[in-house]
Amino acid sequence: MTAASLTLDLANPVALRRVSSHGGSRRWVGHHGPSSLRLPKGLRCPRRAPARVLVPAAALTAVEEIGAVDRIASLSQVAAVLGTQWGDEGKGKLVDILARNFDVVARCQGGANAGHTIYNAEGKKFALHLVPSGILNEETLCIIGNGAVVHLPGLFQEIDGLESNGVSCEGRILVSDRAHLLFDFHQVVDGLREAELGNSLIGTTKRGIGPCYSSKVIRNGIRVCDLRHMDTFVQKLDTLMRDAASRFEGFKYNVDILDKEVDRYKKFAERLDPFISDTVHVINESILQKKSILVEGGQATMLDIDFGTYPFVTSSSPSAGGICTGLGIAPRCLGDIIGVVKAYTTRVGSGPFPTEILGKSGDVLRVAGMEFGTTTGRPRRCGWLDIVALKYCCQINGFSSLNLTKLDVLSELSEIKIGISYRRKNDGEKVESFPADLHLMEQTQACF
Ligand code: IMP
Repeated sequence: MTAASLTLDLANPVALRRVSSHGGSRRWVGHHGPSSLRLPKGLRCPRRAPARVLVPAAALTAVEEIGAVDRIASLSQVAAVLGTQWGDEGKGKLVDILARNFDVVARCQGGANAGHTIYNAEGKKFALHLVPSGILNEETLCIIGNGAVVHLPGLFQEIDGLESNGVSCEGRILVSDRAHLLFDFHQVVDGLREAELGNSLIGTTKRGIGPCYSSKVIRNGIRVCDLRHMDTFVQKLDTLMRDAASRFEGFKYNVDILDKEVDRYKKFAERLDPFISDTVHVINESILQKKSILVEGGQATMLDIDFGTYPFVTSSSPSAGGICTGLGIAPRCLGDIIGVVKAYTTRVGSGPFPTEILGKSGDVLRVAGMEFGTTTGRPRRCGWLDIVALKYCCQINGFSSLNLTKLDVLSELSEIKIGISYRRKNDGEKVESFPADLHLMEQTQACF
């Protein structure tokens, strides 16, 4: 049963708690639990008013038995769920469970490279990419923050899919006016860049993420607020696409292509208008009004542009810093940060993976854990839990809890390993921290 998960309370590391599975109807449980949060000295964290905790009825007994309701009720007013490995740890499911107790769920970085599979009360499956996982909870406001990159055709497709299944979106999703627009041509460029790299390719999702963040950083990107000025939009898009055409021989561009794209975006602009918002203002007003906010991280720290296994990373900041820059939340407002850890490790795309199980042996975990990408369908590389990488990730993010997922997948195996240290292959010397240098990484092996 892959739905099972465990929450490790770092303030009380002995308590390893089984939390819940999806499905089943929901009911309210009143609870005024004590706080079990321990924060670093000097950091004050805004607390929520005592919460009424909503959990699926099917999971209720287990949750009550182990006291996880206490932990959920004691979460801070602004909390976050982040990935601790190379993504696909099961963040979406935890966000979906927690969202029932939060007023706002917000995405702060990334785009449709993320893939979150969640289920409604009837067990219907929803594969979300950009829309925050809180969308199935009718009371929750979903925010796509300034740090995210927004591909409008994809967003509308997701919204249409949700609405055709009875999930209302208008008035419940806000898109930051500061977020950058990701155009189809960014996806084309993503493919061209990967082709250029040949065997050294990054193995991106080809969703245009890197090229869009490049436009943002090089400062010719187009933002959501620019959709309100279609007179200057044409010029901006022309500059952007010319830039791509001058760089890539295989990039087709002419006036007809520009005109068609502008016509499409005129329609998108109209449709998006009710969703556009100054989300920095909305979030900070919500904090003042004591509303609770849950930040949903995409990807994970080991894919972070600064802290990940560069260049085999994504182009945003999926670690704690990305919460502040991607939503305009001040660091002192942040409280609980929950790190989601899969009981083993998976990775999609190229790059170092010290505890990888190579060859056919990896198939056992892949099949048992159904490790195939939600976004691309690619088989995920599988390996053992890597404590060195996890410790590095904990240092960067300062988690208040870890949520251990998919532990049950390991029940299928006769032997389970855990990577506990790294050593240099040539002389066996211990490598004390997670190496930045890929050459050193190559000369390093995990010890179990
Ligand atoms: P990009 O984000 O599409 O540019 O891809 C860069 C790297 O991040 C590639 O190795 C992708 O496989 C990986 N990646 C991006 N998003 C996810 C995700 O949601 N889960 C797992 N890996 C991801």
